[in-house]
Amino acid sequence: MDKFVVRGGNPLLGTIKVSGAKNSALPCMAAAILTEDEVILENIPQVRDIETERKLLASMGAEVELGYGRAQHRTRIKCGILSDPVAKYEIVKTMRASSLVLGPLIARTGIARVAMPGGCAIGGRPIDLHIKGLESMGATVTYDHGYLEARVDRLKGAHIVFDKITVTGTEDLLMAAVLADGETIFENCAREPEVTDLAALLTAMGAKIEGAGTSTIRVQGVTSLHGARHRINPDRIEAGTFLVAGAISGGDLNVDGCEPAHLGALLAKLEECGVRLDVGKESIRVRSGDTPLKAADISTEEYPGFPTDMQAQYMALATQTEGTTVVSENIFENRFMHVGELNRMGANITVQGRTATVRGKSPLQSAAVMCSDLRASASLVLAALVADGETILDRVYHIDRGYERIEEKLRGVGAQIRRMGDVFGKK
Ligand code: UD1
Repeated sequence: MDKFVVRGGNPLLGTIKVSGAKNSALPCMAAAILTEDEVILENIPQVRDIETERKLLASMGAEVELGYGRAQHRTRIKCGILSDPVAKYEIVKTMRASSLVLGPLIARTGIARVAMPGGCAIGGRPIDLHIKGLESMGATVTYDHGYLEARVDRLKGAHIVFDKITVTGTEDLLMAAVLADGETIFENCAREPEVTDLAALLTAMGAKIEGAGTSTIRVQGVTSLHGARHRINPDRIEAGTFLVAGAISGGDLNVDGCEPAHLGALLAKLEECGVRLDVGKESIRVRSGDTPLKAADISTEEYPGFPTDMQAQYMALATQTEGTTVVSENIFENRFMHVGELNRMGANITVQGRTATVRGKSPLQSAAVMCSDLRASASLVLAALVADGETILDRVYHIDRGYERIEEKLRGVGAQIRRMGDVFGKK
């Protein structure tokens, strides 16, 4: 297993480039199931989850080329024949977002067999709302040997009110509704930019969708969809992680190729902390280090609120601000696994239920730390950037799931970070 070795203390200076959004690319790749034609996606990030999704689609009989020709960040998908409409456990267990194929598979083939995702490091994460929605659209869902199987002749339009806001649930059912018979109205939908991105692709494929990006989405089902070419949005969470990297290191960093409009809640908090921001059209310059940073509380919420996917990284910054920061996690249970590791580096954080209290500013020290999930790992990299000495991060495969060559990007702006293969050669 690879490790990162990070020596703290360098302010990050220069320009760092943002990749395409993993969480947009995953549903957009799944949407290719909805047509026999070719779907071409640009600005695909080169991260482990994308490779997993490639394997998933290929295992069903799809032709998937990642980075064909000279276009490294492009994928071409053709689901001409889906000989095996099954999402196998071996793949689903490594990437919970595999359940995104449920909706498009049943819409296209009338049958979908998907392994039930197991527990996950950041809480139970059920998919009951995906299943309930498909049932409302006429599907019969049965369970056997750890798999769920959904069957239908043709899905029917329905009126679906989500009990809880779910991002992949909204995406999954949207992909089901585009080929359903009649109109589907969704209420209490996720408004995340990734939902809007998916809807843009589906519309380019011939779907009739209104209201994506708001809490009510209306879909007029069509009988077939065609191929399309689509460019994936920039990754707002990667961009946010780099903004915090610039701020925590006392640097002067230009985060380039991002969409500032998708980062409103984070930008407001960074400004409250005293970080200087210059927001351009597709870039944000972040500066800090002249004056001490101040604590500012956060409470995670669905978009456009403060993203749960930035909570861990923000907490690393909170260890470096003067005063007490209260962090409330409202989306996922058990999403404080970075706290123990940050405390081992010298932070002063206590957790009670879904609230963490960070008392700053604490000088951080290097330590051997363990990555536990994608965003927790990013938080440890950020802490290591300001720690005294050399921090060794183990299990960086978590970070490789969603960040494209983060160590190379950070090294390009002055961080001392390198990847080290496991000396014992274990996988
Ligand atoms: C997506 C993102 C993830 C992000 C999360 C919240 C992808 C691939 N992943 O995950 O990075 O952290 O949104 O912004 O886009 N829930 C149910 N029943 C369901 C579905 C969800 O109870 O059927 C609950 C979950 O347990 C959680 C909450 O709803 O408490 C939100 O989860 P959801 O929005 O579905 O997260 P994901 O789509 O899995």
